[in-house]
Amino acid sequence: MPFPSLPALLAACAALAALPAAAQDQIIPKPVEISVAADGGPVVLDMTTRLGFDSAFLTPADKADKAAARYVVRYLRAGTGLPLNTAKPGALSGSSIVFRHDSSLAVHGSEAYAVKAGTAQDGKASRIEIRAASPKALYPAVHSLAQMLPPAFFDPKADKTKTAWKLADRPFSLLDYPRFGWRSLMIDEARYFFGMETIKAILDQMALLKLNVLHWHLTDDVGWRIEIKKYPRLTTIGGKRRNTEIETWKSGKYSGKPHEGFYTQKQLREIVAYAAERGIMIVPEIDVPGHSAALCASYPELRLTLKQPKEVPICFGQNTALDPTNEKVYAVLSDILDEVIAVFPSPYIHMGGDEVRHKECWQGEPAIDAFMKKHGYKNLNEVQIHFTNRLSRMLASKGRRMMGWNEILGHDVHGDGGGKADSGSLASNTVVNYWYGHAAPTVQALRRGHPVVNSSSAFTYMTNYGKVSLRKAYSFNPDFPDLTEKERARQLGMGCHAWTEWVPDPAQLYYQLYPRVVAHAETAWSPKEAKDYGDFLRRLSCFRKILDIWNIPYAAEEIK
Ligand code: ACM
Repeated sequence: MPFPSLPALLAACAALAALPAAAQDQIIPKPVEISVAADGGPVVLDMTTRLGFDSAFLTPADKADKAAARYVVRYLRAGTGLPLNTAKPGALSGSSIVFRHDSSLAVHGSEAYAVKAGTAQDGKASRIEIRAASPKALYPAVHSLAQMLPPAFFDPKADKTKTAWKLADRPFSLLDYPRFGWRSLMIDEARYFFGMETIKAILDQMALLKLNVLHWHLTDDVGWRIEIKKYPRLTTIGGKRRNTEIETWKSGKYSGKPHEGFYTQKQLREIVAYAAERGIMIVPEIDVPGHSAALCASYPELRLTLKQPKEVPICFGQNTALDPTNEKVYAVLSDILDEVIAVFPSPYIHMGGDEVRHKECWQGEPAIDAFMKKHGYKNLNEVQIHFTNRLSRMLASKGRRMMGWNEILGHDVHGDGGGKADSGSLASNTVVNYWYGHAAPTVQALRRGHPVVNSSSAFTYMTNYGKVSLRKAYSFNPDFPDLTEKERARQLGMGCHAWTEWVPDPAQLYYQLYPRVVAHAETAWSPKEAKDYGDFLRRLSCFRKILDIWNIPYAAEEIK
């Protein structure tokens, strides 16, 4: 083949640059493989388009997967306004979207899907064939398609009487599957309560970004947000505070007004179902033994000393911890967990374990000294490990797995001393959520068999942008180094985190989330080799249109 002349090459490049981004190239997180045909007509959904599902999706082996096909139909109908009637896949000859079960894709995990879009046998109508490894893969598949459609798809106020929606200019195919099976967003509603409407909207947004775990921080010093019927004071007292320090740590400025709120169990069940319909698991966090001032204010007999606050604090960063020597504490936690488990079907319950201020809360307490003597413990880390391990076994006996911040491994993360405690009796399936400090104990736990989620605070905490810019968030590599393939499989994935000490309302929450949560979604889903900040920003400029339609405030100044 003759080498093209330089002018011809430049002309070809200029023509390419002038092309608008193909719809496939807008998708966030970036799919694994995209190929677009050199020629062929547009792929269009219209009044005649019908949907067909293999029976594997209509009557799935796992009942929990039943919602997926129904969700896909409702979602596409609501977005396009088209009838999108359903039929058996074999009966579909004209314009159609066919969802096929393809177990060969399972090598890439249960969420793997492939799309082939072009024309039907008549050479005119569009035919989109989606092959999916399991019903779970219908969610990422349909959310990729949605991002290819005009942004009006996402606008409930847009004209839905139009009779055709262009998906792509030319036939194309996609292959896509996640880097990690665990892609979580943590929302802290203990510091500020945002309520049902906001959480449902966030679940919709998570689904679009292929984030599949909502880690819900529901309890902390300054608020208890989950109804526990056996302990009503947790919400009547623990769910309220009379005032709130604002702006930043020790600012000395206060809101001057009370803040309160909690979810009833009925509301929580509704939210759990709403998440499940979108393929999202909710992992609740009940943060103990530290971060427990609201719990202690509600039931003071569970705290160790009278030094600890008697009311729900109005400042963040309190030093409060439950009394690990008190049998009543374990009995109450067992009761609480029974109710939590009845509401949240997730196999995992996050029990916190972070930032237990040993010196302030436990050191020098006669009950703790006697406890250490009795058990032969040499330091306060060992006391915390005693507590944590007991909780992990309590949850295991209830058929659930404990998850906890990396302090549950007993390492000295906060300079309180100790650090050598044996974590051998932590229930073997406990998940370690790494956020801070030396990663070595977490990696050792992973080597011993514990699954790990990487939430390294330096990258994944969506606090102020000065600390974690969009670029820095995007640069996160969640892989722990030097793991064997078997060990690597124990890294379930990564989490990103919206702590809300200084985030009093949904508008501020969205500003913290966006656009960084989009960067984290891409890190969690897309192959690491495919990550490219420039290309991410280009696709983000398409995604922004959706945020604008949804009226979601975001840090536009970070998109540069
Ligand atoms: C944490 O940020 N205290 C887990």
